[in-house]
Amino acid sequence: MPAGASSEPILKIAAPDFASDLDLSGDEVVHLLDLAGQVKSAPARYGEALRGRSIGLLFEKPSLRTRVTFELAIKQLGGDSVFTSGMIDAREPRKDVARNLSRWTQAIVARVFSQKTIEELAAWSSVPVVNALSDLYHPCQALADMQTLRERFGALRGLNLAYVGDGNNVAHSLMLSATRLGVNVAIATPPEYPPNKDIVAEAEGLAAASGASLKITTDPREAVAGANAVYTDVWASMGTEHEIEKRHRAFRGYQVDEALFSLAAPEAVFMHCLPAHRDEEVTDAVIESPRSVVFEQAENRLHAQKALLLMLLE
Ligand code: CP
Ligand code: NVA
Repeated sequence: MPAGASSEPILKIAAPDFASDLDLSGDEVVHLLDLAGQVKSAPARYGEALRGRSIGLLFEKPSLRTRVTFELAIKQLGGDSVFTSGMIDAREPRKDVARNLSRWTQAIVARVFSQKTIEELAAWSSVPVVNALSDLYHPCQALADMQTLRERFGALRGLNLAYVGDGNNVAHSLMLSATRLGVNVAIATPPEYPPNKDIVAEAEGLAAASGASLKITTDPREAVAGANAVYTDVWASMGTEHEIEKRHRAFRGYQVDEALFSLAAPEAVFMHCLPAHRDEEVTDAVIESPRSVVFEQAENRLHAQKALLLMLLE
């Protein structure tokens, strides 16, 4: 019976927070993916799991998927959520926000401009802090992405995942989460927009430990050749929109179009965290093709985050 089935206890996450991908051990991620599958197939079984618990959602940036899936996940698990938007420290220091929320809630889910904000909230909060996207990471997205790949291909180990575009938060979480689970990762970015070199070094260590490979290149064709999944994201993330013209010039040649996608394996899927800018980072034909799994990814945000909350709070 898979981990997380009703007769098997839900594993409590050892780290106090989910501030970045590596706050979960490899074993915890595997358990989470099993549990996410259970939650997806039998949601009613978990309908009382968070009864009496309240979770604060602090969002400095816009969101559709993350906000809706966290609010619904909490509601469907029997808990309550309270949403606030705007800069977390607009009225008082972050350390005070964290200590206030800790008196009323059982967890804080925060979408922030700077990873330092997540770390400061986590340092001062006495309840778990979940990173719902920062400048450096998008770990909840990566969990749903791993669930989506596992559903599609059955097993993760040995898959080839290509990411083409900006060396951003989504790329960072993807390379950390995928390499540690044995997925071979190739990242192709323009030379001006590489992934963070410290995170690359961490991912190299994870790849070495799991037997996977990690390739960082500026050649999208090299990254995509033979890939089982081709992933891209917007060229200008939230907070960098003012750079869009400069970025458009740098990212020319990094669009996932039919020609580039045709270099991937015949059964390859197209992935995007969304929101997507059609005919910028991906053509309409590719994102609308039957091989696009972008809405499976979006759906799995709900299930993976339910599993995460259960493992943090059960
Ligand atoms: N993928 C994702 O996080 O979407 P939102 O920005 O809409 O939450
Ligand atoms: N890289 C994007 C992801 C949005 C979900 C951003 O940070 O805006």
